[in-house]
Amino acid sequence: MEKMFLWKDEFETKNKTIDDQHKKIFELANKSFTVSYKKGNRILMELYKYTNYHFREEEAYMKEINYSDIKKHKKLHLELITKLNKVSEKGINSENELSQLQSLLWFWLKNHIMEEDKKIKN
Ligand SMILES: [Fe+2]
Repeated sequence: MEKMFLWKDEFETKNKTIDDQHKKIFELANKSFTVSYKKGNRILMELYKYTNYHFREEEAYMKEINYSDIKKHKKLHLELITKLNKVSEKGINSENELSQLQSLLWFWLKNHIMEEDKKIKN
């Protein structure tokens, strides 16, 4: 099946660790579009754990390079985590709930990784 989200070099932050983590989130997002809702919870759990780890790392990196928009960026992370928490609390027990996760991921990749994250450059 064709991937929904293709990674492009233009999304790179030029920090390999961060870029690899973003690619992993792309992978999870693509996976969410190929499974039935019964497998949704596994992706959700993986995403939940991975995102908390990734945001911590990305925030540490922003601090390390004195990224000027760190405050705004951390706020955006908090908003995404809040949305993810909401989906996680309910879990995925229907196609509709899987669609909600997919919409969140769509928003996340388009508005965050493809726009905000690539501004973080050393
Ligand atoms: Fe970010």
